[in-house]
Amino acid sequence: MSEQREPVGVIGVGWVGLVTAACFAELGHPVVARDILAEKVEALSRGELTIHEPGLAELVQRNAERLTFTTDMSELLDAARLLFVCVDTPPTYSGDADLSRVRSVVEELPADSEHVLIMKSTVPAGTGESIRRDRPGLPYVSCPEFLKEGTAVADFMNPDRVVIGADAGDEGAGDAVARLYEPLGGAILRTDVASAEMIKLASNAFLATKISFINEIANVCEEVGADVGEVARGMGLDERIGSSFLRAGIGYGGSCFPKDVSALKMLAGNTGYHFQLLTAVIEVNELQKRRVVAKLQRHLGSLIDKRVALLGLAFKPDTDDMREASSLVLAARLQGEGAEVVAYDPVASKRAGELLSSVELVGSAVEALEGADAAVLVTEWGEFAELDWAAAAERMTRPLIVDGRNFLDPEALVKAGFEYEGIGQTVSAARPAAAS
Ligand code: UGA
Repeated sequence: MSEQREPVGVIGVGWVGLVTAACFAELGHPVVARDILAEKVEALSRGELTIHEPGLAELVQRNAERLTFTTDMSELLDAARLLFVCVDTPPTYSGDADLSRVRSVVEELPADSEHVLIMKSTVPAGTGESIRRDRPGLPYVSCPEFLKEGTAVADFMNPDRVVIGADAGDEGAGDAVARLYEPLGGAILRTDVASAEMIKLASNAFLATKISFINEIANVCEEVGADVGEVARGMGLDERIGSSFLRAGIGYGGSCFPKDVSALKMLAGNTGYHFQLLTAVIEVNELQKRRVVAKLQRHLGSLIDKRVALLGLAFKPDTDDMREASSLVLAARLQGEGAEVVAYDPVASKRAGELLSSVELVGSAVEALEGADAAVLVTEWGEFAELDWAAAAERMTRPLIVDGRNFLDPEALVKAGFEYEGIGQTVSAARPAAAS
């Protein structure tokens, strides 16, 4: 008979919670996942996913017997000792993280609870300490999440590192969490709670800084005639720099970087420290989304009544997540300049429709490009690389494209009849073929 694995409880079945629940079930643990939204719980119990994440639906269906979804906290408390808190911590108006959902979870635990609270939600440094102060005796472990949307299942199963923060007295709880992750084989870093909390915020802030840095380099490349792709390649070969997260584009988005960079800046500010670097990272990111408008104006002059097609809306490919997507700012800016905006995204159109009511959403890239005065590639979905661009050029009023992710092959686009503009690329690669 196979050994019974430690049951796992997951509180909050958003994107992190669902991936955590499904992956622990896949590793053989009985998992009870609780969410306050009855509709979501019912859908998940029927095997219907509420988010688009490659490989996740299969995992949920394959492990249906080990995976229970419920709205009932007592069911979860009865089933599992180890409780992963995966509720969201959105930014407040002040830019601080909103911890109200985390607080409600703590309040729901009975006074004599012998459960282990494992914090996966991204929280400011100091949160663990304050929960431990409020609930002395409740074992507390910080286990921050490093998954990326779109590759979350693979990231969970092959982690670079798992960070486990536990303070004096909670070493046993830390050991229990470490045992859950040992089969995955990644490095396990044991540390204190405050350091674990800071590792998460510092990691996201550093990656966001890398992106804003390369975006500024791209902007300078445009001035001096260099190619940011070549520059990033040359920089990345230096092991101290590394090649990842040096893709220039129209800025980072998503539910994590914008929120966490702001939360770290505010966290520092609340202690009286002015984190200047992060202020610049945020500002560069905001301006980067808007540079596309100037690029279009350079070619088209006024954008009044110009039809601009946005290809891709999600904040990155392989997700339908629209949170802080660059497309939102871009669409609003284009409309502010008088343009008519039409858009297509392979999976995010439904979510986008709720946020972009005045944008015309269509069912294919070709439809979006029909009669357009310009196109902007916003999200690097694989299908855009496969498009018949020569045929698309014929259907546009003016075959002009701003490739916001440097995703397409400039030479092929120029050959297909396009005026091509990337981000931080040399003018020669982007020069249109001479008119016959
Ligand atoms: C990010 C982190 O990468 C994860 O490690 C972390 O766990 C997660 O936040 C979180 O805190 O939950 P995610 O937001 O899913 O993951 O997406 P990323 O792949 O990191 O991309 C974020 C944004 O940066 C996207 O808009 C992407 O287009 C942009 N990006 C990324 C660039 O503009 N250039 C790059 O080189 C890389």
